[in-house]
Amino acid sequence: MPENAPLISPDQLRAALSEFATGVTIVTTRGTDGSAVGLTVNSFNAVSLTPPLILWSLDKSSRAISAFNENDCFAVHILAADQEALAMRFASRDVDRFAGLALAKGMGDIPLIPDTLACLQCRVHQRVEAGDHIIFIGWVTAVSRDESATPRAALGYHRRLFLSV
Ligand SMILES: Cc1cc2nc3c(=O)[nH]c(=O)nc-3n(C[C@H](O)[C@H](O)[C@H](O)COP(=O)(O)O)c2cc1C
Repeated sequence: MPENAPLISPDQLRAALSEFATGVTIVTTRGTDGSAVGLTVNSFNAVSLTPPLILWSLDKSSRAISAFNENDCFAVHILAADQEALAMRFASRDVDRFAGLALAKGMGDIPLIPDTLACLQCRVHQRVEAGDHIIFIGWVTAVSRDESATPRAALGYHRRLFLSV
């Protein structure tokens, strides 16, 4: 800890960070047992265009941690405003998160969720331990975008509420 740094409680920090509006994504991979693994993530961000790098961070206490540590392939799906229910489902425990989805197969057999605004398939470039999270820096190897004639609004997240942006 930096010298003389004031102690910020997790609640104080969470409240301040909730003022930062973000988009919403679902990140997927495949576990070593073959199971589809995924969770709702708003820590996603762009890093670099050349080379093509993105990042997101995963709570070390997540049940998904071993799958993302053991598989070097993952996919980030950027959600549309009408996919709030999907975002809630992929943040919930004790539900089959992938039920009823017509999944496609990506690089390394990772599950791809159909009909999102954009999908970025990635290979892990770096895993960085940072406090209670692991930052995954992904090298983007394939991208796809929703090309509908009528542009769809994106799903946003602000002060713990979903919104259309
Ligand atoms: C809008 C939103 C954004 C989230 N972003 C993250 C994130 O960036 N990283 C993370 O580890 N969990 C994030 N979560 C929590 C996970 O989606 C999920 O609730 C949690 O991983 C459930 O526990 P499990 O991973 O052990 O199943 C987010 C949840 C919501 C609703």
